[in-house]
Amino acid sequence: MNATVKTGKKHFPVMLNELISIISPLYSGTFIDCTFGQGEYSKAILKHPGNKVIAIDRDKKTTLNAANLKEKFKDKFYFKNIKFREIKSINIDSKDVKAIIFDLGYSSNQIQDPEKGLSFNSRGKLNMQMGLNNFSAHQVINHLEQKDLEKIFKYFGEEKYSKVISRKICETRKKNKINTEDLVNLINKTKLKKNLKIHKSTKIFQALRIFVNKEISELIYGLINAFNTLPVGGAIVVVSFHSIEDKIVKFFFKNYSQSKNLSRYLPEQRKEKKLFELKNNKPIFPSEKEIKNNPPSRSAKLRYAIKINNSENFDAFIQQFKYLLDIENLSKKI
Ligand SMILES: C[S@@+](CC[C@H](N)C(=O)[O-])C[C@H]1O[C@@H](n2cnc3c(N)ncnc32)[C@H](O)[C@@H]1O
Repeated sequence: MNATVKTGKKHFPVMLNELISIISPLYSGTFIDCTFGQGEYSKAILKHPGNKVIAIDRDKKTTLNAANLKEKFKDKFYFKNIKFREIKSINIDSKDVKAIIFDLGYSSNQIQDPEKGLSFNSRGKLNMQMGLNNFSAHQVINHLEQKDLEKIFKYFGEEKYSKVISRKICETRKKNKINTEDLVNLINKTKLKKNLKIHKSTKIFQALRIFVNKEISELIYGLINAFNTLPVGGAIVVVSFHSIEDKIVKFFFKNYSQSKNLSRYLPEQRKEKKLFELKNNKPIFPSEKEIKNNPPSRSAKLRYAIKINNSENFDAFIQQFKYLLDIENLSKKI
């Protein structure tokens, strides 16, 4: 979620120092910032005169931040308003790429943007589109069948009350279309138990954001595209903010950093090649100081790996998360 917190005009990108200490041994070269946002990561990388940055972001509003950087850094900086899965549409000279970076989720500017309606404090029609979307949360809540809503809430939000909330949504919308306030009120009335740790709507809103923005396939195909763009020796660095994202990133790095026997009857040299060198088995967390200065950073986890071999086969990765991709595909019913 929030990698950048806006207080007045200051932004706090999450784990910037950790990111820089991981990628600085790879300076000078080209770095791909897949989640440009306010451009804090890109700016920090461009401080080194030998570096270039190719940045992307799906949110059109970030093009303004990008235009400012372009003016300053000219041909050292390039930006395109596209999604992770479209990264191949940029003509990248892959041999110069040193690292590909993902700082997943939303910036606080996006959360606070009333037009996007990402927050449960928003008013009016449900939206939740980050940019370059095909449908909104309003369509999801007001059109999908009860059993489909239940799956979205259960698997993308890990919401215990998925069943009863979906049933109440379907009953309520018979009278009137459901907007943001209606949804928050409905959840409040359903979840009577007090949980002081998180807002009662957090999980349902997380589920809707993941579904509307197709975050599962974006991440899976984003990682595969990043791997295919990166030369051997380059790094993939991912900062994730919730357990579903982290599960996907962890599997990708761990599964492909072990050499596996295709069959126990085959000789040793027929083992499947390792694709990554994992530098840290465990994720890196923000420091206590960072969490104190920027509380939303507390849920961040940073994982990274160095590519050591090429491969074109990611079937095991896609199969592992097929159950989530199938839920994402429920959007075809809208
Ligand atoms: C947490 S912010 C990044 C903040 C950034 N690191 C900075 O320093 O300001 C995440 C950004 O990633 C973008 N984003 C999320 N999913 C994306 C996707 N699938 N494709 C492209 N951009 C995406 C969001 O629009 C948002 O601007």
